Amino acid sequence: MGRESSSVFSGTVALVTGGGTGIGRSIALRLARKGAHVVVAGRRAGPLGDVVSEIEAVGGRGLAVPTDLAQIGDVKNLANASIEHFGRVDHLVNNAIMNYGGAYDAVTVEQILHMIGVGLTAPLILTRLLLPQMRERRSGNVVMIGSTAFVGWPEVVTYSAIKAGLDGFAQGLRREVVGDGVHVTTVHPAGTDTPSMTSQARREFVALGFKIFSPEFVADAVVDAIARRRPRVIIGSWEKRHVWLSHVDPRLIDRTLARMRPGFQAAMLDHQTPSS
Ligand SMILES: NC(=O)c1ccc[n+]([C@@H]2O[C@H](COP(=O)([O-])OP(=O)(O)OC[C@H]3O[C@@H](n4cnc5c(N)ncnc54)[C@H](OP(=O)(O)O)[C@@H]3O)[C@@H](O)[C@H]2O)c1
Repeated sequence: MGRESSSVFSGTVALVTGGGTGIGRSIALRLARKGAHVVVAGRRAGPLGDVVSEIEAVGGRGLAVPTDLAQIGDVKNLANASIEHFGRVDHLVNNAIMNYGGAYDAVTVEQILHMIGVGLTAPLILTRLLLPQMRERRSGNVVMIGSTAFVGWPEVVTYSAIKAGLDGFAQGLRREVVGDGVHVTTVHPAGTDTPSMTSQARREFVALGFKIFSPEFVADAVVDAIARRRPRVIIGSWEKRHVWLSHVDPRLIDRTLARMRPGFQAAMLDHQTPSS
């Protein structure tokens, strides 16, 4: 994949939301090593600046755009700032997330709206703003970072809805723009070692038997999904089977998740995506 994917990325421009930490950071650095210039966005300037320094250290060009994706004005500014600085965006990676765990009726209305704003509205609007240029150039990639939870998991119900929404959006949009040279895909990570994988969540997920992947492993899958134009990628062999079974035998998955529910409850108790 090495040389082939480098030629896909060399001299192109990527925009990665949540690019200061976790999976987003790894994607930004992988793309930079393959020759892309990278815009990274998130609320905190510190982690973004560190990633830009790392990009520059491997000979790339980076741009940090401090952005609150819950604010639509910030989303528009991010698209404009990327175009103004680099002239275009070839690869949009919608990666940032805000998650509040717990039973659905224990999460507040404000928290639900916050999750949807960052995790669903912002990716759809950012894609809407950058797509026309991609279609005009007859080239571009849009990647939605989903989650295995898109099958519908308890204790992360809004998060599941957001990830299912991103998946449906990506499948539909790809089929709409397939003739325009633009590729749209979803990469669904399994449990991954990032700031969101708190020690509490890790302990419970490992006890449930989940494998925890490295963010670099997920970043490689994203690079591969773009380079090989894969329509949907699910990380993890248990997870692939789980997604398949959820479509062919949802009652079986009801029973599986009922057994796992106490672990999910313990993992997600008072969970909030860390921001420091
Ligand atoms: N970690 C896992 O186990 C796992 C599993 C499956 C799927 N995923 C998916 O992988 C993606 C990345 O997850 P991660 O675990 O790597 O996340 P993370 O780095 O632990 O944290 C979330 C990222 O999103 C950014 N963010 C949060 N709210 C934001 C806002 N209002 N505006 C702009 N940026 C915001 C954060 O930056 P600031 O705080 O600076 O804003 C941070 O960079 C997500 O889509 C997640 O759902 C993760």
